[in-house]
Amino acid sequence: MTVLKAQALSKIYGAKSSKMTYRALDQIHLEVSEGEFVGVMGPSGSGKTTLLNLLSTIDQPTSGRIEVNGTDPSKLSNKELALFRRRQLGFIFQDFNLLDTLSMKDNIVLPLVLDNLKAAEIERRVREVAEVLGIAAILDKRTYEVSGGQQQRAAIARAIIHRPAIVLADELTGNLDSKAAKDAMEALKRLNEEQGTTILMVTHDPFAASYCRRIVFIKDGRLFSEIRRGANRQAFFQQILDALSVLGGNFNDVSPTRPE
Ligand SMILES: Nc1ncnc2c1ncn2[C@@H]1O[C@H](COP(=O)(O)OP(=O)(O)OP(=O)(O)O)[C@@H](O)[C@H]1O
Ligand SMILES: [Mg+2]
Repeated sequence: MTVLKAQALSKIYGAKSSKMTYRALDQIHLEVSEGEFVGVMGPSGSGKTTLLNLLSTIDQPTSGRIEVNGTDPSKLSNKELALFRRRQLGFIFQDFNLLDTLSMKDNIVLPLVLDNLKAAEIERRVREVAEVLGIAAILDKRTYEVSGGQQQRAAIARAIIHRPAIVLADELTGNLDSKAAKDAMEALKRLNEEQGTTILMVTHDPFAASYCRRIVFIKDGRLFSEIRRGANRQAFFQQILDALSVLGGNFNDVSPTRPE
């Protein structure tokens, strides 16, 4: 089943207000099926964040269409859109975006509390996701009492606890050291393989990307190529490096981490 469908998606910045316009995305077609784990890579300025902002309904396309689980978000009222975002989408950000006045657990359950789930059900779900993510022992701690890697895994828990149709992540390993990045990616891989969580992730980092099962490369706002992982992640890592070198562009901030 197709969870996410983007058809001929284009984004021109500054289209109305100024003479300076910039075509950040040009006729992007992308389909993500249920249970997929897709990475989006491309040089700096190629349009990755723009694409994610459109898919997450934070921004609107200049032209083209988006569908998530059969719903076109551009057809929704503001109120429906807020609900759509909360129910159908999960977000993971580079800088975690946890509330530091709340405990880890209170951060994680936020989407369920907003939906008025029963306390016992909330408790059951938070235990379940915390277990998968390896943060069960630190649920009562505040964000400043735990590591960045643990914060990011709490953010992942928050992004999936309401069982969204798709989880969207932008550079989720960008602020993590290589050990924490590995833990976060292994957690996502488990969620994808064991619970069938559908994930679309933007990343610069070939190591993080090697956990995906399919990677689409974009260049100058257009789809450039696509690769799929076979059985072996190390081989996929090399395939990603090769694809990036063909792609060209600025990859100065690529992390030097390698799978061991
Ligand atoms: N709000 C905006 N107004 C005008 N131009 C923008 C805006 N946001 C992004 N752009 C331009 O659109 C292009 C794509 O930007 P985008 O942020 O999507 O790139 P990216 O692939 O995420 O890059 P990075 O890897 O550096 O995060 C860039 O040339 C950028 O300067
Ligand atoms: Mg970006």
